[in-house]
Amino acid sequence: MLTELDQLQAAALADIAAADDAPALEVARVRYLGRQGTLSALGERMKTLSKEERPAAGKKLNEVRTAVTAAFDAAAQGLSARAESSALVSVDVTLPGTPLLPIGALHPLTQLQDRAVQIFRRLGFALADGPDVDDEFHCFDALNTPADHPARNEQDTFYLPDGRLLRTHTSTVQIRAMETQPPPVRIIAPGAAYRRDEVDASHLAQFNQMEGLVVDEGITLADLKGTLEYFLRELFGAKTAIRFRPHFFPFTEPSFEIDVKSPALRGGERWLEVCGCGLVDPAVYDQVNQRRGDQAYDSEKYTGFAFGFGLDRLAMILLGLPDIRLLIENDVRFLEQFK
Ligand code: DAH
Repeated sequence: MLTELDQLQAAALADIAAADDAPALEVARVRYLGRQGTLSALGERMKTLSKEERPAAGKKLNEVRTAVTAAFDAAAQGLSARAESSALVSVDVTLPGTPLLPIGALHPLTQLQDRAVQIFRRLGFALADGPDVDDEFHCFDALNTPADHPARNEQDTFYLPDGRLLRTHTSTVQIRAMETQPPPVRIIAPGAAYRRDEVDASHLAQFNQMEGLVVDEGITLADLKGTLEYFLRELFGAKTAIRFRPHFFPFTEPSFEIDVKSPALRGGERWLEVCGCGLVDPAVYDQVNQRRGDQAYDSEKYTGFAFGFGLDRLAMILLGLPDIRLLIENDVRFLEQFK
């Protein structure tokens, strides 16, 4: 019986070692360790042994069972490790993962604003900022806009109970910048503006503008033209035709509206108005000096130009949008196109 057990152990270990996949190993396990297996059969035969033989044989049987079980466990572990590493070999870890949540993107208006800011930064402009809730001084008086100007009408502007208002343009930031810094000034100020407009395909009550102001010695209309032509050609393409059309704004003299024309733009076979601009009216410097309590903005020494454009309008032209409301509706089917 003892020799038989030794032989059995040797045979079992050899079979286990030879099993090179999980089904083969299972066959070996059933053959030796299963309920109908060889070890069970030898266990049964134990009963037929004499009392003297039994303890030694029983001990041996247990040793063999332990050894075979251990060999089986080790082999099973080895096989599963091998399966795992061969599965890993076929995984290309350099492939992008499967995102659990779809990744968003910047809103097309934000993308456009970033682009515009980048272009002006190349020309040495710094970013400036001002509050959305401002007062009549910064929105109108300081910008040489008289009390009887229609923009000041309650029907045109959102007033707060305390007399403050939602700024109707970002031109307020011109004044705020000059209040806090002496010349030279070279700033752009993107931000929201508000008007009591009936919302339709081309009007929103809250929209986005970008203001610009340059004040320095020797600034002329040529600087204004050069700067804005550079900006508009960077944005709309080198072949864009640009027209400066005389206009009126209270805070600039002379003043212009700029139109662009390019067959590459939606509606661009006719002139499209994109921007207001002009040379800063000395009356604006007077208001600023009064607030500052000095003569930092001496209109005999300094001249400047200012401009303002609607970002939503530029977006409509550039992206070919038929309706401005697309920009605020948050319809993912629309937004997804600008990822
Ligand atoms: N603030 C004007 C508007 O909202 C735009 C504008 C025109 C800004 C001329 C300027 C400027 O700085 O010089 O319609």
